[in-house]
Formats: sequence, C-alpha cells, structure tokens
Amino acid sequence: MTDLSALSQRLASLTGNRTSTPRLRDGVLTLVLDVSGLARDARVAMAEAVEREARAVPGVEDVRIAQTAEKRDRAIVAVASGKGGVGKSTVSANLAIALAKLGVRVGLVDADIYGPSQPRLLASEGEKPQAEEKQLIPIRGAGVPMLSMGHLVQPGQAIAWRGPMAANALGQMIDARWDDAEVLIVDMPPGTGDVQLSMIQKHKPAGVVIVSTPQDLALIDATRAVNLFEQAHVPMIGLVENMAGYACPHCGEISDPFGSGGAESAAGVMGMAFLARIPLSIAIRTASDAGTPPAAGTGPDAEPFMALAGRVKEWLDRRQA
Ligand SMILES: Nc1ncnc2c1ncn2[C@@H]1O[C@H](COP(=O)(O)OP(=O)(O)OP(=O)(O)O)[C@@H](O)[C@H]1O
Ligand SMILES: [Mg+2]
Repeated sequence: MTDLSALSQRLASLTGNRTSTPRLRDGVLTLVLDVSGLARDARVAMAEAVEREARAVPGVEDVRIAQTAEKRDRAIVAVASGKGGVGKSTVSANLAIALAKLGVRVGLVDADIYGPSQPRLLASEGEKPQAEEKQLIPIRGAGVPMLSMGHLVQPGQAIAWRGPMAANALGQMIDARWDDAEVLIVDMPPGTGDVQLSMIQKHKPAGVVIVSTPQDLALIDATRAVNLFEQAHVPMIGLVENMAGYACPHCGEISDPFGSGGAESAAGVMGMAFLARIPLSIAIRTASDAGTPPAAGTGPDAEPFMALAGRVKEWLDRRQA
C-alpha cells in the first residue's frame, strides 16, 4: 500500500468518511473535508487532526484542507396522537434511545409546550441548555441529545403562552445546534393546536408516528391526528399501539382487557403500517418515572421499543434511497 492510500484509510476512519482522496503534488497535499453539521470546536479539532496525520506522511511539505459544509437534510419524525395520555412521550423517549442503539444519530425535541415530560423521562430535570451565537445547544439525557420546553422555563411555572410564542419556542429547539444528528424525534403535544400547525407548515416533518391505545375512543382520536397530517401531506410512518394488553409483573404473561388486534386492523383500514405493540407494563411506568427508560436496558421491556426503532429506521433508509 502506498503512503497516500494508507493515509486515506486512516483519515476515513479518523473522520467517519468525511475526507476526499488526498492528492500530493510538488510536496503539497490537498484534500476536501466535509464538516457538515459539526460545531465550530469539533470542526477545528477535526481539521487539526487531519492536518497532523497528513504532515506525518513522507514527502508532504504543506497541507491544504478545503472544508465544505452542506446544510444537512435532517429528517424530523413527529410522534403524535389525537388524545392526551396515550404514551407519546414514553414512545418518543424510548424510540430515540433505541434508534441511537441502532447507530442512528438522533436528537429528541420535547414540543409539548404545555406539559413537557422529557426532562423527567430522561433524568435531565433542572439542567439549563446553553446558547452559542443565539443557537441553543442541546443537553444530554440518557445519552441522547435533547431539548425540552421544560428546560427553558422554571419548573412549575404555568405556561400560559399564546400560539405564536409556543411556535417560536418550537422553532428555536428545531434549529438548535444538533451537530451531526440525522434524525430529530419530536414529542408533540396532544391534539391539533398551534404547535402542530407550526410543525407542519414550517418544519415539514419527514414523517409521523401515531400513538394510540387499543380502546376504540382513542383510535377515533388517532384518526383525527392522522387526518391533520395527511391533509398537510406529511407521510405516515405508521401506528404504534401502546398499553396493548397487560404484562403480568409476576409471570410476564400478556392479557388483553380491551381485546387485541383492534389497532392493527384500524391501521389497515386507514392504510397505515402497524409499527409495534407495546404492552401496558408496570415496569415501563416505573422505569419511565425513574428517568431510566426501558429501551436503555436489555430486559424484555426494551424489546418492543427496539422493534419499533427497527421499523422506523427501515422507513428512513427507504426514504433516503
Ligand atoms: N406501555 C406503558 N405501560 C405502562 N405505563 C405507561 C405505558 N406507556 C405510558 N405509560 C404511562 O402513562 C402515562 C402517560 O404516558 P405519556 O406521558 O408518555 O403520555 P403522553 O401521550 O405523552 O401524554 P400527554 O398527552 O399528557 O403528553 C405516564 O405515566 C407513563 O409512564
Ligand atoms: Mg407527553
């Protein structure tokens, strides 16, 4: 292997395939470094590391690095429901963690202006995101970069905001410094209000995941949320049935107080993919309340969320292709 091709391989692994093939002419080595999505510090550090490597190659007297940055096409995945309390926040948090486990660079936005729950779910209550050049810098919760309205207001402070303020806060979180995140999971407030409209009109989600419980009423509400996004031509990723059947804390057996299969057939009628069935489980609730989402663990409660993340990743990969 020549010194140059060895360098090329080293740089590829050092930067995560962000460098072009290096060229050497009259002692001057040139290459292109793609710094898309990197924060300034990371950009500088990466360019320095590349230069150091390049200078160590025999025959290299000077190094010229051309940095390019594209605005990344960051896919927004909204997690929505027609009705409150069906588990959007639980599903969003665990979906984000499970996608990260599958190697997707993911960020989480809690757009529930009126009842933010991600700081508790991801054990980041009381943290304050910093801003740099007027851009918010996400914090980390359970290993995932995240921003929540709950971080931007005092705990317990009543948020009696008007629509435009809520929409503005949403915009600041979406446009935060997500660095190289490919996907933003957005935990939506329930229903079809100002935040939903702003999301649809301004931020153009790549797709939406609808969460519903098995009861008929919740499914009717789910239809309402589906209609809102469909009218706006936001692609449907599919339906998640949450609190589907009760997982016995003693033996793990699943019983179905509300009957089973309702959400799956409703998804079929609405022409939507059925993504996952997540049981009603005391362990899921206690883990969530404790700020240790089940998807972060390896127990049986992680499985339905991993399955969900797999389906969502497939959908995103297909969209990319
Ligand atoms: N599969 C589940 N098993 C047990 N408890 C669950 C499950 N999913 C959600 N919960 C619990 O149900 C409650 C509501 O869930 P969550 O906050 O995720 O719903 P939501 O749709 O985001 O609600 P809101 O509309 O108020 O934002 C929480 O206490 C949560 O821990
Ligand atoms: Mg919620």
